[in-house]
Amino acid sequence: METTLQTTLQTTLQATLQALQDHLQQQPQQRLTFADYMDWALYDPAQGYYSQRVALGQGGDFFTSAHLGPDFGQLLAVQFQEMWQVLGQPQPFTLVEMGAGEGLLAADILAYLEHHDRPCFEALHYGIVERSPRLRHQQRQTLAPWVASDPPALEQPGAHPAQTVQWYTWDQLTANPIVGCCFSNELVDAFPVHQVVATGGQLREVYVTWDHQQHRPVEVLGDLSTPALAAYFADLGLNLTQPPYGDGYRTEVNLAAQDWLTTVAQGLQRGYVLTLDYGYGSDRYYQPSRAQGTLQAYRRHRHHNEPYQAPGHQDLTAHVNFTALEQWGDRQGLRPLGFVPQALFLMALGLGDRLAALSNPATAPPSLPDLLQRRDALHQLLDMSSSGLGNFGVLLQGKGLSPAEQGQTLRGWQEPV
Ligand SMILES: C[S@@+](CC[C@H](N)C(=O)[O-])C[C@H]1O[C@@H](n2cnc3c(N)ncnc32)[C@H](O)[C@@H]1O
Repeated sequence: METTLQTTLQTTLQATLQALQDHLQQQPQQRLTFADYMDWALYDPAQGYYSQRVALGQGGDFFTSAHLGPDFGQLLAVQFQEMWQVLGQPQPFTLVEMGAGEGLLAADILAYLEHHDRPCFEALHYGIVERSPRLRHQQRQTLAPWVASDPPALEQPGAHPAQTVQWYTWDQLTANPIVGCCFSNELVDAFPVHQVVATGGQLREVYVTWDHQQHRPVEVLGDLSTPALAAYFADLGLNLTQPPYGDGYRTEVNLAAQDWLTTVAQGLQRGYVLTLDYGYGSDRYYQPSRAQGTLQAYRRHRHHNEPYQAPGHQDLTAHVNFTALEQWGDRQGLRPLGFVPQALFLMALGLGDRLAALSNPATAPPSLPDLLQRRDALHQLLDMSSSGLGNFGVLLQGKGLSPAEQGQTLRGWQEPV
């Protein structure tokens, strides 16, 4: 059985490599920037990982906070309830989840609000922007209780009564700006990144081309494909070609995040942008000692540094530079309102109370395996080791808020009690 699976995998991987070779040969210089290669490997309709074979959760390639049970979504829902109050209980109050995976987080948020805050739930429109058709299909299944019985494929925001989930395109979002919150968990780290190398006193870009002798994709260095790359480092006040950066310093730049944030700012009339992701501020991101960047490939819960090992068959991800998100957002009218590690964010929203309830026989799950599993899940959400979920960054930006609304520190960014 295992051998049959491996043979099938080898065959589809060979087909993907052939498609990549063809794709590279069609390019004017038979090469792609690393960002275009990553975009192809993740999102090409016929070969991309997210288009064809994304597998999330314990049995898949990687899991997110949403896979650890409903606590993460429920605590986010507590934060959304407060946002609704601070914004003056708008009708509708729209949440737009960007990059919603299998829809688990949406289901946990909707179920929590439906049962714990009926007025907020009744004001709620839940929108999803999702690039992967495969995941859109899974989301429709997960969210069936909240999906209108026979919806058109992609709808206009607000076209349906409250409490139904709707799928938007980015264009639909910008054409119909919302009042509420645009949020994402592990979206920005899935955007394609440019890779650059500082060598011989110059900043060079990594391109991918096909090596006909070795029958595999290989890297070549070339001139920067866009002046935006040099401008990015100039904006951050960094010169990677000078000490303390060493020759060969390699890192990545997420220019797609800039376009995304511009779109989100246009799609938000009044309210918040909430971004949860792996990442750091610029200082930590571009530390001279981080000489190979943060790009990682994930396959069956193992991560490695080989982005060409299994194109289309593995996830590729790079950490997020939260300083750049703050700077870009500010230029688009998104004011930075707070940045905390996820562990503190969730503690401030009540994760500590949930842990304490597990020690109380009156509130703990009756079966020991359930109790242990839940405790382990909560501890994983708080894990502040370098790759732990508690070490994620949680950035809040606001737009169109009154001085009083802007001055109000939301619960997730307050000191946990
Ligand atoms: C790493 S998964 C995270 C899924 C989910 N948020 C979770 O926490 O489990 C990244 C998600 O972002 C989606 N995505 C990536 N780029 C996107 C884009 N440009 N527009 C919309 N969705 C995108 C992927 O298809 C996928 O659903």
